[in-house]
Amino acid sequence: MDFKTSTAGTATTVAADALLVIVASAEAAAALEKPLADEFARALRDGDLDAKPAQVLYAHRVAGVKAARVAFAFAGGATARAFRRALAAGLAALKGGGARTLAVCPAGFGTLSASHGEAVAVVAAEATYLYRETKPSAPTPSRLKTLTVVCTDKAEAGAVAEGLRTGEALAEGVTLAREWANRPGNHCTPTHLAQQALAMARSHGLKVEVLERKDCEKLGMGSFLAVAQGSEQPPKFIVMRWMGSAKADAPVVLVGKGITFDTGGISLKPAAEMDEMKFDMGGAASVLGTMAAVARLKAQVNLVGIVVATENMPSGRAVKPGDVVTSMSGQTIEILNTDAEGRLILCDALTYAERFKPAAVVDIATLTGACVIALGHHRSGLFSPDDALAAELQAAGDAAFDPAWRLPLDDEYDEALKSNFADLGNVGGRAGGAVTAAMFLKRFAGKLRWAHLDIAGTAWKSGAAKGATGRPVPLLTHFVLGRAR
Ligand code: BES
Ligand code: MN
Ligand code: ZN
Repeated sequence: MDFKTSTAGTATTVAADALLVIVASAEAAAALEKPLADEFARALRDGDLDAKPAQVLYAHRVAGVKAARVAFAFAGGATARAFRRALAAGLAALKGGGARTLAVCPAGFGTLSASHGEAVAVVAAEATYLYRETKPSAPTPSRLKTLTVVCTDKAEAGAVAEGLRTGEALAEGVTLAREWANRPGNHCTPTHLAQQALAMARSHGLKVEVLERKDCEKLGMGSFLAVAQGSEQPPKFIVMRWMGSAKADAPVVLVGKGITFDTGGISLKPAAEMDEMKFDMGGAASVLGTMAAVARLKAQVNLVGIVVATENMPSGRAVKPGDVVTSMSGQTIEILNTDAEGRLILCDALTYAERFKPAAVVDIATLTGACVIALGHHRSGLFSPDDALAAELQAAGDAAFDPAWRLPLDDEYDEALKSNFADLGNVGGRAGGAVTAAMFLKRFAGKLRWAHLDIAGTAWKSGAAKGATGRPVPLLTHFVLGRAR
């Protein structure tokens, strides 16, 4: 979709197939141009529109309005959140229709800013994404091709256009992350992820290096390779680089869990919903998506994206409960449960990340079912021993409408990881499972400025709307852009 701003007309005169009026309040509706204000008032009076948040009224060929299709979306407030919600509802009503060009006209939100533009691009992409890779017969994609935000003057249009540009990049990152995470395990293998990373390197001007099993052996990544040893699919350790700033500037490093399918291994998972474990590379997908967004914006920041990719499979060669492996850090690990594999692949990536002398390292992982129990599906789990870094990530998530919530990392929790046969065990019992998983990673974060995002509850949706969300690409992109010069 193309995004534009226009100061050429008003809501009633703008040239578009459809007009979406986002109405902040009843007063804002009354202040609209007469044909629109009247239509809105009639619908309210006749009981065809409820003035409640995210309620939508569709009207065809309203007299005095150039656009053939008109939708009113009621926001019930002038906040950014109300704006987004109404916009999404309005787009849902219009995306399936005949319109190719759409004009969006916010009313009662004051002077529009970049954040409104960003919301328009992000919400529009969210509403029109369609998975087709293995379902080419899927419902017809939306016909919408251009979306124009109607602005009152050049200054407002400039700010909105700037936001649209950021939003388009964000939307691309989110869409890519959703797409890769949605692809089934037999399509989206570690090799496929490496190929996608290489293709993205060419299209976005990134540097990419793919470490093979042999390379990882040489580096001593015994923990990562223990997880990979049960699979017929070769593991891939993918390192991507965006150098948008001076060479000497310390980079931000993102590390993504890329389990392309998690059976649990010898500690096999039960059958129910096991298909959803194709989403266990959501962290990896979010790293790739964020790299795409940041590179597209040519942000003046250095960013390294590491994707650790493998399947977790049972087999005659698979790692077994009780096996002890040596991580790249030199610490030995007793693998008590082969289903706690995410931390086993991430720990070697954290050690690897040290070589970049990073300004900050953030790992992103669909790590624990316990995090879903703790926080549900709205907020990702955020862990960091560093208060400033935690606050920075929390703020980035809030600003991007991709929120996280901080959970503790007190030393007392470390107790649970004690092992009689290794430096630490890979599980700590059921209690506080999201925290003990993070405590495991902390043992490998050493002196890094490090944070961990557990996205087990936020990376995908189950049920009728089953599919990847692309989270936390918005949080990560805001975080990285906030560090750009
Ligand atoms: N990928 C799963 C975590 C997961 C489970 C995410 C369900 C979303 C929904 C992870 O590898 C896992 O299996 N974790 C175990 C850890 C346990 C064995 C300590 C879990 O959460 O049950
Ligand atoms: Mn697992
Ligand atoms: Zn997993």
